[in-house]
Amino acid sequence: MKVLLTRAWPKTVEEYLSARFDVTLNENDAPMSADALSAAFDDYDVICPTVSDRIDAGVIGGAGRRAKLLANFGVGFDHIDVGACKSAGVRVSNTPGVLTDATADLAMTLLLTAARRAGEGERELRAGQWTGWRPTHLLGRAVTGKTLGLVGFGRIAQATAHRARHGFGMNIIYFSRRAAPAEVTAPLDAKRIEMLDELLATSDFVSLHVPGGAETQNMIGAGELARMKPGAILINTARGGVVDHDALAGALKDGPLAAAALDVYPQEPKIPEALLAFENAVLLPHLGSATEETRNAMGMRAASNVEAFAAGDALPDPVA
Ligand code: DGY
Repeated sequence: MKVLLTRAWPKTVEEYLSARFDVTLNENDAPMSADALSAAFDDYDVICPTVSDRIDAGVIGGAGRRAKLLANFGVGFDHIDVGACKSAGVRVSNTPGVLTDATADLAMTLLLTAARRAGEGERELRAGQWTGWRPTHLLGRAVTGKTLGLVGFGRIAQATAHRARHGFGMNIIYFSRRAAPAEVTAPLDAKRIEMLDELLATSDFVSLHVPGGAETQNMIGAGELARMKPGAILINTARGGVVDHDALAGALKDGPLAAAALDVYPQEPKIPEALLAFENAVLLPHLGSATEETRNAMGMRAASNVEAFAAGDALPDPVA
């Protein structure tokens, strides 16, 4: 079975797959063009893409091409047109669960970096501009006892809530279509808020945890940002498209936000130009799942979907 990895993967996973299948690696890790991805549908049985590959209906083409599985390296799959895959008879799998802790850790990294102005401090020090300790230097915001509002309440949001509640003594509220069971909410003392506007108006920190895609596109726009508490901080480890970045630039410049801390952007790796100028924007390059342990686990999870497909078994992590 011919398998294509569209980007360089952790070595141990590349070796694992290469020992079992006829695998093409991407040694120099250059992103593949849409034409190359489309051609791969005729040359491979399985394509293993990542968030950096846009696999739309044009790339997928119609039914009858060779590729029959997209084993995505990552949990989010909004870069894949799942509807077009279904019509073309192409299965899709992802890697849920294994990146929960790493992504929740990064959400807290962003929260703390923004609250304590750590990015500003590091830039100042490296620029040789630190003049020494003084009582009014780079004052940030306390975290303990503050309210964290989670938009979406899946695995990563819950893991973030756990850290915030039990590590930092924060109060937890969440907005989600479905109420979480008591065994999840009770240990977190988490309260469901039925209206997004109410969550935005009462949270000191808002952390986004909804999937990307048409349903959540610009979910946090000018109106939503205007409803946030003066001095609130917005954290996004979900998908860039969830936030209207022009509106965000306005809310950072004129209020009500004190800061925003982002790991994801609408058109990665492009960064919305306006944000780069803001001292109160913490900007990371999509590092949510970037630990050696997690990337290995993601690769092995994708590999288990490839193996199940090759054996004719049910996919462990089907999304289509
Ligand atoms: C994910 O798994 O969705 C991460 O954002 C990396 O793609």
